[in-house]
Amino acid sequence: MGKAARDWAQIYSIYGLDDWHTPIFLLIHAIFFSVLSVLFLLYFEPTCYFLQHFLPGPSAARFAAGFTGSVTALSAVCLFFAAGNIFYSSVSLHWEMAQRMVNAVTDWSTVKHALDLGCGRGILLNAVALQLKKSGSSGRVVGLHPTPIRSLTTLRTAGHEGVQEYVTCRAGDPRTLPFSDNYFDVVASAAFVHKVGKEFGQKTAAAAAERMRVLGEVVRVLKPGGVGVVWDLVHVPEYVKRLHELKMEDIRVSERVTAFMVSSHVVSFSKPSQHFVGSNEVRLDWRLNNLC
Ligand SMILES: C[S@@+](CC[C@H](N)C(=O)[O-])C[C@H]1O[C@@H](n2cnc3c(N)ncnc32)[C@H](O)[C@@H]1O
Repeated sequence: MGKAARDWAQIYSIYGLDDWHTPIFLLIHAIFFSVLSVLFLLYFEPTCYFLQHFLPGPSAARFAAGFTGSVTALSAVCLFFAAGNIFYSSVSLHWEMAQRMVNAVTDWSTVKHALDLGCGRGILLNAVALQLKKSGSSGRVVGLHPTPIRSLTTLRTAGHEGVQEYVTCRAGDPRTLPFSDNYFDVVASAAFVHKVGKEFGQKTAAAAAERMRVLGEVVRVLKPGGVGVVWDLVHVPEYVKRLHELKMEDIRVSERVTAFMVSSHVVSFSKPSQHFVGSNEVRLDWRLNNLC
């Protein structure tokens, strides 16, 4: 698998964790529940004796103590698993998925402008930059992030990967991208679009409209013939539906990959060179202004 099999410790030392609060929170709770279940095991008889004061008979007390101890131990296992999965998803899997996304573009040598939407720490951004470097392209990749504070950290990771001359970063709203129409040869985004609009609640129509707006922007800034590659959690089927509505071509969806404890897919597509509706040629409204 080449680069996909890169050592996780190396990836972690360069990129760290995007959201370290979640695995740490889960880990602390896992340790707490583990200690609790060991205490249940060590002090099983005294616990049964104590519970007898509240329950009818010793067998009910033994059942309650055994049941509580088992649930506590099971919770600890689940919490350890969740913390491990989130750590794995943020580091090794994230790197592997970035390689997959890069491989979805057949010819990087002709790519002049690429965009990574929601570049975060820059795992995908640098994977694209490494590919541009490898293919001898004179192309550059822009990493866009909603907050400006990220740029310095992201550029530092590009420096660690030796691709700083291929990378620029800028802040901007993914719902109104600060780029002209038909500009990029490739637009990619990893584990980001689902975050947009989450302030409305992940499952609300308002959040879905925000995600669709982002997708519309991706399509707008893509050159005709350009390639879009989106790896995201949970909502990919809705992106696929929208891409079909927008008459994108060559839409491919990867098999399901469990990431961050939920299902994820990579969807790739290309923007048609021309778009026809009915007898007259009509340019599609990529901006999706009609959504809100
Ligand atoms: C999993 S990371 C993306 C990683 C990046 N694409 C990469 O390949 O390294 C998700 C990013 O979304 C940002 N984010 C979190 N909540 C957000 C929100 N409500 N709207 C937009 N971005 C958000 C976080 O700062 C984080 O950097």
